[in-house]
Amino acid sequence: HVARPCVMVVFGASGDLCSRKLMPALQRLALRRELPGGFAVVGVARTQFNDEDFRRFARDAVSKYGAEGPAGSDEVWRSVTESFYYVAGDYRDDDTFRRLSAVLGDIDRRNGTGGNRLHYLAVPPAAFPIIVGALGRHRLNRPARAGTDVFVRIVIEKPYGRDLRTANELDACVHQVFEESQVYRIDHYLGKETVQNLLALRFANAIFEPIWNGHYVNAIQITVAESEGVAGRAGFYEQTGALRDIVQNHVMQVVALTLMEPPITMNADGIRDEKVKVFRSIESLSVDEVQSHVVAAQYAGGWVAGHRVPGYLDEPGVSPTSTTETYVALRLRADNWRWAGVPLYIRTGKRMPRRMSEVVVQFHAAPHLPFWPDQTRGLGPNTLVLRIQPDEGITLLFGGKVPGHGFDVRTVAMDFRYGSAFPGGGPEAYERLLLDAMLGDPTLFIRADEVMETWRIVEPILRCWEEGRKPVARYLAGTWGPEAADQLIELDGRRWWTR
Ligand code: BG6
Repeated sequence: HVARPCVMVVFGASGDLCSRKLMPALQRLALRRELPGGFAVVGVARTQFNDEDFRRFARDAVSKYGAEGPAGSDEVWRSVTESFYYVAGDYRDDDTFRRLSAVLGDIDRRNGTGGNRLHYLAVPPAAFPIIVGALGRHRLNRPARAGTDVFVRIVIEKPYGRDLRTANELDACVHQVFEESQVYRIDHYLGKETVQNLLALRFANAIFEPIWNGHYVNAIQITVAESEGVAGRAGFYEQTGALRDIVQNHVMQVVALTLMEPPITMNADGIRDEKVKVFRSIESLSVDEVQSHVVAAQYAGGWVAGHRVPGYLDEPGVSPTSTTETYVALRLRADNWRWAGVPLYIRTGKRMPRRMSEVVVQFHAAPHLPFWPDQTRGLGPNTLVLRIQPDEGITLLFGGKVPGHGFDVRTVAMDFRYGSAFPGGGPEAYERLLLDAMLGDPTLFIRADEVMETWRIVEPILRCWEEGRKPVARYLAGTWGPEAADQLIELDGRRWWTR
């Protein structure tokens, strides 16, 4: 797992993502001794930092968001940040990239990084094409000499476009400058151990796959709930909303890993080919279906974890007439042999009672219960709950006999907990993905065709909403969403899963 010496060039280096996610991820890699020798970072942004300011920024980021390491950790990080440099400038200004090239050349000479580059776009999406274009003009998009094993890669953050058209436009622009094999579109959900474990559960075991289909599975629910609001990110969120922020990317990736066919091999294309097939099997909703299968909502003021919190419309930076959804629930289906007839219920929201991401696979009821009805009052259908976060693990619910003379049965649980099975834990999502990008393993990154298919899936919803057909329901902060979302699932005779 040791990458070749390289320079990571972070665009948007003075921003939130860099301090919250990238710096702590690099710190963890440093503590695990997984950063390559000679590793350096060049931060680029408009903020007028010099090298020393940027190093301080990196140290502050880690003291706020980083890991508590063993004694001496601070020194490890401090010595890593000694190879951090900064180029202040506008992305539209060619001079910024001239100075960047010069700094990169110096580092190559000093650190032996040999021209290996990992560009990282941690900037608002409007800046993606500007930076990509400039990297091309300044020949920072490929190794200086062809035919060498020098690598130049680019990691692009989400959102990759804001609908199908803009995603295609962005992709055309990216492909004018980079080969697809150089492009690492990041979705940090794929860096989560529990998301990857979906593949282990399904394909390292023989007992689940035979029942992983519509003959046995009655419905699948996917929830990504957050207790946080959008404080501090309203500018971004107002333009985005829950469908674009979470469903098109994170949720769709979880859907793909849950529904896909076994890949032939676990390599990048083996997995990504199967994921794309799942997306293709998800039909676009008709206008009528958008009306009946999709619920958008916004949180009103309420209480979360004992604190009073404002409603979305009262958050600083949010327009008082905003219709941006902070919650969305929808019903989809995958029309293929395995999943025909199995509804897929999805919901995600901000300001829910607690943070909770999980996949719930609900099985059909037993065909016949040889008990008296009052003996099975506490019995629900078999359910497999895959907890992505928090309290990472898997629970299987099944019926067990209640001790005593009668024959009462009720649902009991069999539990697997990551924390107990693997007490050391694993890498954090960004840590894993940054290292994979340095190593040149794109398995956990999104291929262009996946992005387009996932936009295609949400496109009819975006279109309807744009045309003004967007009823926005309300839910109190600290609740599990609006009544309309309960009705969406209850009309099918089911309920949202709760623990
Ligand atoms: C990001 C979204 O992609 O994912 C945020 O932009 C969201 O709005 C975050 O809060 C959730 O990630 P996690 O890892 O906390 O579930």
